[in-house]
Amino acid sequence: MVKKICVLISGRGSNLLSLLDAQGEIPGHVVRVIANRADAAGLKHAEERGIETVVIPSKDFTERDLFDQVLGDAIAACVPDLVVLAGFMRILGKKIVGRFSGKMINIHPALLPSYPGLHTHQRALADGVKWHGCTVHFVTPDVDVGPIIGQTAVPVLSHDDEETLAARVLKAEHRLLADCVRWYCEDRLTVRGNAVLLRNSVSIADAVQQPQG
Ligand code: GAR
Repeated sequence: MVKKICVLISGRGSNLLSLLDAQGEIPGHVVRVIANRADAAGLKHAEERGIETVVIPSKDFTERDLFDQVLGDAIAACVPDLVVLAGFMRILGKKIVGRFSGKMINIHPALLPSYPGLHTHQRALADGVKWHGCTVHFVTPDVDVGPIIGQTAVPVLSHDDEETLAARVLKAEHRLLADCVRWYCEDRLTVRGNAVLLRNSVSIADAVQQPQG
C-alpha cells in the first residue's frame, strides 16, 4: 500500500525537493508540507507540484505546548503513515513526539551520536575530524538520539571550509533521506531497542559483482 507522507520544513527545503524528485522509486507520496515559518523557501517546491502546504508560524506562539498541539493536529489531519522532519529547526515536546512515535523521522547533518544540535560542520572542522556526514533516525523525546536508520560518511578535506563541507554533506543527505524513506515505505525497518534492522538488505559482498570464469 502506498504510504502517505507529511514533511515538516523550516527553510530552503532542498531535502524536501530531493524527496519529491525520488518519489517515483518510493511506494509513498508526500500529501502535505508543513512549515513553521511563512518565509520557508521550500514551500514553493510543494506548491509547484500542487501539494497542500500549511504554515504554522512558531513565532506566534508563546507556549511551546500549544504550538505542538496545533502542529500535531495539522499533521494528524492528513493521516500520514510517515512524518519526515526535513530541516525542521524546532525542538518538539514529549507529547507530540509520543503522538507520532515510530512514524516520525529526522535528518541530521552529522554522524550521530557525534555532533547533535546546531553548527555541526563548524564543530567538525574545529575538531579536525577526517570523516563527517549525515544521519536519518527515528525521533524520540531526547533530541538527536533516536534509533538510527541510516548514515552516510563523507571525507573532510584539508582545504574544506564550512561551506564546502556543508555542500558535500547535503549532497549525501539527499540520497540518504530518499533511501531511508523508501525503506520505511517498503515496511523493511524493525526497531530493536536503539537499533534499526533493515530487512532484505543486500550485503555489500552480495552486491559486488564477482569476476566471471
Ligand atoms: C539540512 O542540512 C538538515 O540536515 C538540517 O537542516 C538542513 C536543511 O536543509 N537539519 C538540522 O540541522 C536539524 N537538526 P534543507 O532545508 O535544504 O533541506
